[in-house]
Amino acid sequence: MNTIILDAGKKENIMLCAEAIKSGNLVAIPTETVYGLGANALNEKAVSAIFATKGRQADNPLIVHVASPSDAKPLVSSVPPCFDMIVDMFWPGPLTLVMKKSAIIPSIVSAGLDTVAIRVPNHPAALALIRSSGCPIAAPSANLSGSPSPTKAVHVNNDIGGKIKYILDGGDCKVGVESTVLDISDGTLRILRPGGVTLGEIKKLLQTVELDDGTSSSVRSPGMKYRHYATKAPIKALLGSPSETAEYIKRNINGNTAALMFDDFSFNHPNIVTFGASEDHVAQASKLFDALRELDSMDVSAIFAQIPKEDGLGMAVANRIRKAASGKIISLVFCPGTG
Ligand code: TXA
Ligand code: MG
Repeated sequence: MNTIILDAGKKENIMLCAEAIKSGNLVAIPTETVYGLGANALNEKAVSAIFATKGRQADNPLIVHVASPSDAKPLVSSVPPCFDMIVDMFWPGPLTLVMKKSAIIPSIVSAGLDTVAIRVPNHPAALALIRSSGCPIAAPSANLSGSPSPTKAVHVNNDIGGKIKYILDGGDCKVGVESTVLDISDGTLRILRPGGVTLGEIKKLLQTVELDDGTSSSVRSPGMKYRHYATKAPIKALLGSPSETAEYIKRNINGNTAALMFDDFSFNHPNIVTFGASEDHVAQASKLFDALRELDSMDVSAIFAQIPKEDGLGMAVANRIRKAASGKIISLVFCPGTG
């Protein structure tokens, strides 16, 4: 199939893509977080094509995108009491809410769970497409399963070009990491995935939120157990102060290794890709996935990565780097008494 990249700023392109969604086809869509691979959430056949195109496991449910909070209500069996307060604050935006699903949601979307994940994206083209399609749009990130999420139309084209008809090009995704997934389906509010809305922002509104790091025996967010953001060469994430980890990289980098570094601690070496200053978590989030893809294009045997402090948006950035490293952490933190 010939994939056509369309300017998301043009109304006729939104209409063309809305027709494609209505007739059960897939469209890659820009959002403020990452590009999504969208289909009519109420059309089981179209949704199954999402899983096939990405190579996604059938037990990993999808996020359903709607244009307004009121459009979310028919998709859930009961609206939690905190719903209005949360969506007044965060929608449209990078927060996904997990709630008990209604019968309208096909079980392929929720991967057999009794809940559904929903968000209103903060991107004019995504909202225009949902409205013009006249249906909720199920969309996981538009990468091949396992690879870094796409933050540019070209990333989508590199991963699944030739498999879908249209990519709506809305430019670079501003936030750059995926939405925060917040489970409000029972009495306890839990963050299942840190993301574009920070724990601090949520805590300002709801004091009682818990953080579920995905390591408990009952995995609440099925997606968290899979390998993510993988590069061909293994990533070794470095734990320590920026100057300690930069020193480590200086000692260990060579022609056969590469490094992901903060702008203010990097040095001149052809295999270094930077992703913003050490304290600038907003820049780190927006550049991370593009940087991982650039590192992945290098012919190296290992990639060292600096990890930001886990405050604010740094928590989501650090989470993605740890996942990319799939647990390979080198700790440079000095522990008194260990010699
Ligand atoms: O920012 C985003 O969230 C992007 C854009 C396109 O909206 N989408 C995205 O989708 O990151 P995806 O499929 O790559 O990640 C969705 C995550 C997965 O970890 C999945 O397991 C979880 O949300 N999820 C979806 N439905 C769920 C549910 N009912 N209960 C728990 N977790 C759920
Ligand atoms: Mg994804």
